[in-house]
Amino acid sequence: MTSAEASAPAKVILTGEHAVVYNEPALVMAIDRRARVAVSTSRGDLVTLYSQRLKETARFTLEKSKNLDGEGSRNRRLLPYLTVARRVAQLAGYSGGLRITIQSEIPSAAGLGSSAAIGVAMSAALGKCLGIKLSRDQISKIAYQSERHIHGHPSGIDNLISSYGGLVVFRKNEGFLPVKSPARIKLIIGMTGVDRSTGEQVAKVAETVKEHPRVGQLLLHCIGHLTVETVEALRAGKIESVGRLLSLNHWLVNALGVSHPSLDRLVYASLGAGALGAKLTGAGGGGCMIALVNDKCKAAVMQAIQREGVDAIPARLSRTGVRFD
Ligand code: PMV
Repeated sequence: MTSAEASAPAKVILTGEHAVVYNEPALVMAIDRRARVAVSTSRGDLVTLYSQRLKETARFTLEKSKNLDGEGSRNRRLLPYLTVARRVAQLAGYSGGLRITIQSEIPSAAGLGSSAAIGVAMSAALGKCLGIKLSRDQISKIAYQSERHIHGHPSGIDNLISSYGGLVVFRKNEGFLPVKSPARIKLIIGMTGVDRSTGEQVAKVAETVKEHPRVGQLLLHCIGHLTVETVEALRAGKIESVGRLLSLNHWLVNALGVSHPSLDRLVYASLGAGALGAKLTGAGGGGCMIALVNDKCKAAVMQAIQREGVDAIPARLSRTGVRFD
């Protein structure tokens, strides 16, 4: 029997969500919350995939594309990860049994990249367990396949940032560049608790762009410019300017129809408490928002978000992408 364990970070999109789908740049940051996956080989050909949070198990084999628990079983949320297991096993020439356990500190369906972090950690742990060396790029690409099962046609930023870590500016057709910020980026994440689907929010933007192509395209392009300016402000250490750009990004993406009253309330509450900037992060429609803070306003912003009756967590940059634990 061989075994391995790996973990990978969650992410927040600082600027450029939705526009990134239309090949505009987006600025993405890995944060200090991780998903962990433990893998061991086992006798026979049964693969069990267990999620500690969901308390659910999926059972399948690597050879047959069959969910042994039946099509209508409760474990559907785990099935996208089958793709990851099959792909890594195929690269390693392995068709035996596996035990895979997922443990995650990342809230799911909240726009924090939980599924990508799981896919990335799983690819790495499986590769190590089965004796093959996968590059960060390969790991990211394998995880992208499970992301496609979950989200349809995602831009690929979640798997990329989870694999590499750090702060990067990303453009779908061009790749990514690491960004250096002399100032530390301190965030408070406010979780609305409102469920939403990334696919539905992306479809909403597509509808707006289809109905109003000139205005829609301009808004998306404007968000792209905003990301470029945010990168410049970060590099120059102008953190107040970064804050103003984040808020501006919120109102632009709001104009595309993907905010939600729960998000707007938290944005206003944060700004009222002195945040340097605040915006939704990820697909919108619920999920999470971020507030950019400094040491002076951090506690007040945290309290202002909590007073709205939702959870708030501090977050900072994780320079470490996927790693073996
Ligand atoms: O909420 P999330 O983490 O699924 O982020 C979605 C970001 C979008 O730009 C809306 C879609 C994408 O694939 O980049």
